[in-house]
Amino acid sequence: MSDTTVRIEPVSDRDLNRVQRPLAGLLTSCVEAGAGIGFVLPLSLAKAERFWAGQAGALESGSSHVWAAWQKEALVGTVTLALARQDNGGHRAEVTKLMVHPGTRRQGIARLLLNTLENKARALGRTLLVLDTVTGGTAEGMYARLGYRRVGVIPDFAAGANGGFESTTVFYKRLSPVFAA
Ligand SMILES: CC(C)(COP(=O)(O)OP(=O)(O)OC[C@H]1O[C@@H](n2cnc3c(N)ncnc32)[C@H](O)[C@@H]1OP(=O)(O)O)[C@@H](O)C(=O)NCCC(=O)NCCS
Repeated sequence: MSDTTVRIEPVSDRDLNRVQRPLAGLLTSCVEAGAGIGFVLPLSLAKAERFWAGQAGALESGSSHVWAAWQKEALVGTVTLALARQDNGGHRAEVTKLMVHPGTRRQGIARLLLNTLENKARALGRTLLVLDTVTGGTAEGMYARLGYRRVGVIPDFAAGANGGFESTTVFYKRLSPVFAA
């Protein structure tokens, strides 16, 4: 029987040199499979790698947190928690760049990634999460299932990976705060 155990590990700025290549491979695979996550086709591995390398400053400063999901030695998923930086947004953060490799979907990997992200957000006092996702995409139903509240739709929000425009659906989730004992 094959081992499908998944490990969720944080990615630090120091890890990026080692991990940005597999993260780039994951990003290109997801965009090629039609994911609307900020990029259009064609997306080269080099461009995808530059995107991840560009996260180093935010990781170092702590304004972003990235996790990778590993199945054996394969990087099969990732998610980013981006903390709001405004003075009045100390309780808020955005969920971005959630993606799971097309070959390993429906195994609960996104659920594990989001659980990890939400625990970290709570620990940091970020009790309001916001995000947007392609209207009618797989993730829309997933977020609703995982307790995110649908706010509404912005039409023609982004160019689709394969041309045309896609609408986006905005969601939020309130997290219960962690109280010190
Ligand atoms: C959306 C995505 C991250 C889901 O990843 P995943 O690992 O397959 O999701 P999970 O297996 O953890 O599923 C969690 C829940 O989401 C829902 N879900 C996930 N995929 C679904 C699908 N294809 N159809 C219906 N529901 C689905 C289910 O409720 C599922 O729970 P269940 O399996 O207990 O019923 C993945 O499909 C993906 O990477 N898509 C492209 C990128 C993208 O759209 N990212 C979101 C950007 S905001």
